[in-house]
Amino acid sequence: MSARQLHLNAFLMNTGHHEASWRLPESDPHSSTSIAHYTRLAQTAERGKLDSIFFADSPTLWSTIGRRPSGSLEPTVALAAIAALTERIGLIATASTTYNEPYNLARRFASVDHLSGGRAGWNIVTTATLDAARNFNLDELPSHAARYARAEEFLQVAKKLWDSWDDAAVLGDKEAGRWGDERLVYPADHVGGHFRVAGALNVPRSPQGHPLLVQAGSSEDGRAFAALHAEAIFTAQQTLEEAQAFYADVKRRAAAAGRDPAGVLVLPGIVPVLGDTEAEARDLEAELDRLIVPEYARDNLAKQLKLDPSELDLDKELPEHLPSEDEIEGAKSRFTLIVDLARRERLTVRRLIGRLGGGRGHRTFTGTAEQVADAIVEWFDDGAADGFNIMPAVLPSGLEAFVDRVVPVLQERGRFRTEYTGTTLRDHYGLARPENPRRREALESAVKGVLAHSR
Ligand SMILES: Cc1cc2nc3c(=O)[nH]c(=O)nc-3n(C[C@H](O)[C@H](O)[C@H](O)COP(=O)(O)O)c2cc1C
Repeated sequence: MSARQLHLNAFLMNTGHHEASWRLPESDPHSSTSIAHYTRLAQTAERGKLDSIFFADSPTLWSTIGRRPSGSLEPTVALAAIAALTERIGLIATASTTYNEPYNLARRFASVDHLSGGRAGWNIVTTATLDAARNFNLDELPSHAARYARAEEFLQVAKKLWDSWDDAAVLGDKEAGRWGDERLVYPADHVGGHFRVAGALNVPRSPQGHPLLVQAGSSEDGRAFAALHAEAIFTAQQTLEEAQAFYADVKRRAAAAGRDPAGVLVLPGIVPVLGDTEAEARDLEAELDRLIVPEYARDNLAKQLKLDPSELDLDKELPEHLPSEDEIEGAKSRFTLIVDLARRERLTVRRLIGRLGGGRGHRTFTGTAEQVADAIVEWFDDGAADGFNIMPAVLPSGLEAFVDRVVPVLQERGRFRTEYTGTTLRDHYGLARPENPRRREALESAVKGVLAHSR
């Protein structure tokens, strides 16, 4: 088996990533609130020995509810339930640094890490929509730069809190009548521009120390943030060249930040549409695209491009005059990806909607299991990916097809594990448990104290 192995994460979204997936006969339109549905998906991913599952999230109702299943379970709550019915699969939840407080969130992820035996991951997002701002006492979306500045301090505080208990703090010494060692609890003692947090966390240090830290923004600010904090990066990339450039850039930035680039895993998204034959896969893709309601999709596209829907003619290309990325305060990199795709391939709005229908800008790949495996291995071998965010167009069938047909091909080629070799999410991603710098600091200050005393 080759030394370098793929990392595969299953990105789970109600009936599938394709916006019309809920209209297929097999789909349950009520599955978005069904924990049985998500547990079955997690168990399928675990059967395929995937590294992790992942739930996206935003504290807002995104998309009009006519268009597709909308509204979702809060991800850490759902993952806590799933943890009880799985053993190995990693559990990654999205949470916003803009609309949470570090104490609450650090506690929530530490809790999921404890109850899952070290399988928690946090997809750190700054939340790019105005709708969300309006749910949190604001009239305007905080600027992109302001959101990332808050995220930076948020992470500093969260890390202090996760490290606020020494691993040895709990003694459980029944004989001495001493449950814990007070000297081994290190208050966060944080005072900054956004947050003032005095205390230690109210949860002992968790099995992984910190949850796996994932990041999913690809703008300048997003990349700078990822270079400092991310251990895995989810990204949308359409072409091999763009993906290679992104990969090289974030690895370089991580090295410049003094980190080992191998400890920052890049996982582009891929939406596999699978069939036993290529023709069968193309039929499924065509059927899904036929079921898209273009008016809903056009309204959504107009919002992303900061246009009025009347400016988008379904049978024409995008208008000449579009805002520049600088004028976008929401999701900058996704805006640019969509415009580049439309211009590069000279797509009409109708065809662009079809291309975005599968994965909202993630790369869609339609074909047989061998062809999907080839596409995955090509990017993996050519310096564009350390693994993939698998985004099945239809769920559960698309994940089952991936696990039953693509995973064995990758295993036969020696590119993917046949068994889990560890128990934590960090084990699956080959990442070390972070040391606790607070312990070293505490020891150093204790030594200084003794020395000063002895002089
Ligand atoms: C795979 C993937 C998953 C994402 N999931 C979420 C999510 O759950 N919630 C969210 O607010 N943004 C999510 N995003 C969006 C990013 O957090 C970010 O807003 C977007 O990529 C634009 O970032 P940028 O402004 O740094 O370019 C996701 C992006 C990717 C690539």
